[in-house]
Amino acid sequence: MELTTLFQLTIDTVWQFYLACTAILSFGQPWTEPSATIMTSIAPATASNPIDFDSIKSLTATESSAVDQLILDELSSDVVLINQIGHYIISNGGKRLRPMLLLLAAKALGQVNASHLILAAVIEFIHTATLLHDDVVDESELRRGRESANAVWGNAASVLVGDYLYSSAFEMMVRTNNMRVMDILSKTTTAIAEGEVLQLLNCNNPDTTEEKYLEVIARKTAILFSTATRLAAVISDSSPEVENALTLYGQQLGVAFQLIDDALDYTASTEDLGKNLGDDLAEGKPTLPLIYAIQHGSPEQAKVVIDAIREGSRDAFNDVFAIVKATNAIEYTEQCAERAAAQAIAALQCLPDSEFKSALEQLARFSVQRDH
Ligand code: IPE
Ligand code: IPE
Ligand code: MG
Ligand code: MG
Repeated sequence: MELTTLFQLTIDTVWQFYLACTAILSFGQPWTEPSATIMTSIAPATASNPIDFDSIKSLTATESSAVDQLILDELSSDVVLINQIGHYIISNGGKRLRPMLLLLAAKALGQVNASHLILAAVIEFIHTATLLHDDVVDESELRRGRESANAVWGNAASVLVGDYLYSSAFEMMVRTNNMRVMDILSKTTTAIAEGEVLQLLNCNNPDTTEEKYLEVIARKTAILFSTATRLAAVISDSSPEVENALTLYGQQLGVAFQLIDDALDYTASTEDLGKNLGDDLAEGKPTLPLIYAIQHGSPEQAKVVIDAIREGSRDAFNDVFAIVKATNAIEYTEQCAERAAAQAIAALQCLPDSEFKSALEQLARFSVQRDH
């Protein structure tokens, strides 16, 4: 390897590491000097002030159809099982939040071009690949409101089609002919894999700290959100300031999104969520609601939660849920998510005002207020 290439890789690695650390260290602290409005905590969704996800979606309706077409084209393989599983998981909904964020960020910066569309499809492919793999690892049987692919076709097929989606994503990404894009995306998938492995190491370990938990969610979830919004800026040839702001926005939104996902695993309705509740406990995952409950419960309550994490089973779900509620662990998790979302919104300050910027702000709020 040439010395200059090595130097560039080192710089990039340090930068990625810095961004990951910012996500963790800036937790609870404002990113820039906050204005009064930014520090106001996010308004709760009320009947008179709900987040209108469908209106936000309609802002990118045309571009999203083009992205869906790209996705469908890419799923057509002459290997039947790839077609079947690919369509089963991708055509069956999903919020398409990550491609929407990329497209909205692109529109907030100006025009959407062909590379933005390709990258929106790439991000959704990577996301879907991680879900196929994640459901195998988590032994989850419900996804997007129906049986997960592993429940229908088995683990081997899910892992292999997940690999196919990853590979297709990289094939598509090359079409942008942009070295920075390839560099960012390849580091992103590496970080996601690291996050999932780190999480595996934390499983059944009740001593997992909040810091370790935050490190996992920064890698397994937040980085893909930050890459989505960052790539919009890269393709739009934005200034480093704007690129950094959109990177931070995606990262903090992603942290908020996963925090709420981990709360919803205890509090949601299966119907709204489209996933089974209690999957995290069944895997012995020490997510923030449990970490907080151990720290703030009585010794007896802490023991119930610790034993449940060690055992990794659904049996104690009702008892654990009662303790999580009694210790206000869900409220704490939601407050952390609100802080992260407020930082995401603060990061957008440097963008010019537009309906797309407002939609990005709304989606940061949606990440906290969502029930699915
Ligand atoms: C699920 O993501 C995985 C997490 C990071 C929690 P989404 O909730 O965005 O999944 P879909 O695409 O809408 O099904
Ligand atoms: C998110 O974690 C998974 C990835 C980022 C791959 P979860 O395991 O909590 O996601 P769900 O709840 O299964 O969607
Ligand atoms: Mg899972
Ligand atoms: Mg989850």
